[in-house]
Amino acid sequence: TGHITIDSGYKNTGATQSAITYLDGELGVLHYRGYSIEQLAAKSNFIEVAYLLIYGKLPTQHELTHFNEQIAKRTLVHENFRTLLSAYPANAHPMGILSSMICSLTAFHPDSLDPNLTDEQVDLNIARLMGKITTIAAWSYKHAVGRPLVYPKKSLDYCSNFLQMMFSDPTENYHVNPVVVDALNKLLILHADHEQNCSTSTVRLVGSSNASLFGSISAGVNALWGPLHGGANQEVIEMLEAIKADGGDSKKYIEKAKDKNDPFRLMGFGHRVYKNFDPRAKIIKAACDNILYNLGVKDPILEIAKQLEEAALTDPYFIERKLYPNVDFYSGIIYKAIGLPKEMFTVMFAIGRLPGWIAQWKEMRENKEPIGRPRQIYTGQTAREYVDIKNR
Ligand code: CMC
Repeated sequence: TGHITIDSGYKNTGATQSAITYLDGELGVLHYRGYSIEQLAAKSNFIEVAYLLIYGKLPTQHELTHFNEQIAKRTLVHENFRTLLSAYPANAHPMGILSSMICSLTAFHPDSLDPNLTDEQVDLNIARLMGKITTIAAWSYKHAVGRPLVYPKKSLDYCSNFLQMMFSDPTENYHVNPVVVDALNKLLILHADHEQNCSTSTVRLVGSSNASLFGSISAGVNALWGPLHGGANQEVIEMLEAIKADGGDSKKYIEKAKDKNDPFRLMGFGHRVYKNFDPRAKIIKAACDNILYNLGVKDPILEIAKQLEEAALTDPYFIERKLYPNVDFYSGIIYKAIGLPKEMFTVMFAIGRLPGWIAQWKEMRENKEPIGRPRQIYTGQTAREYVDIKNR
């Protein structure tokens, strides 16, 4: 207790000590466990990065194989998930399905609710969640498009397995395109952690009450869904498509974004912490040209995105406020090129962020952090007498 200061949006309030992710917003630096995301995006793969975040070190070959096996073994979900899924309308947003299904894992694995899990039991729940999230995500898409659900294949690597569950269909043989697998690994790595952002803080806060891993992550998915956070990647594509449909005049939308009487914001622009550039956006922009070229995809909205970026970066409004493209600005163009519908973009972000959330939940638990419980300054009525309803 004592003197309470308000820091709306926690702009300058540290909530924890953490040894997972280092971020320098002025210099545009992002490290996972000491390794730069530039190196990880160029040399590693998503599961190796997941291991690094969760267990604090790069795995040996043996550890990586074991981790992959533990996850692959648990990609199946209980058959009753099909019944759950079938009850949703086809136009249900997959983020709502994802958070509900992740929460439903507590019902199928009630052992996960024990607040005093051993390290082995925690590892089991981590493998369950890492394995099942891709199945749930792909099935939510198949349900939306009314196609048969495709089962996971243990023999495939993490990203290839997800792609086959998304895009294969029982009538034909499906070949995973290595260009797409590479692109997916890169995108997921770049999304894998970002220290105490809104969804991660949510996971830690929910977890601080000793709520289960699945319950805590389900809450994180909902936090990520908002358009100011992960939901921005879907909004970016919608914005670029709207600009295209409106004649492609990016300047007009720059003016709209600057107009304080217009609620429109340039989606995929600005960041709470990065004030010079978002290093993830830099890598994704470079990858975008490359991937579209390799896939033979020509998408006019990439040109619009580039024009928009250039117009914003030379405009005093954006310069003064240090607003730069963030991770979400170009990621959607890649997702679109590999055939994902825009409703799935934020789900992809969630799959990528999962190891970060898990690592942060685990760290919170291992640090024995107290329950999160912010204070307030009360601004309501002072004490008054209850008035009977007929006298009001
Ligand atoms: N377009 C137009 N103006 C903007 C934008 C934007 N995208 N972002 C910030 N501003 C202005 C804002 O109006 C304010 O101006 P003023 O000082 O005149 O009132 C100033 O810049 C500072 O903005 P803020 O909202 O106080 O900054 P914040 O740190 O609270 O918000 C943000 C950060 C990311 C929520 C915000 O920049 C935003 O809404 N961006 C668009 C949504 C987006 O792309 N979100 C994804 C973030 S990165 C990935 C992730 O977290 O999921």
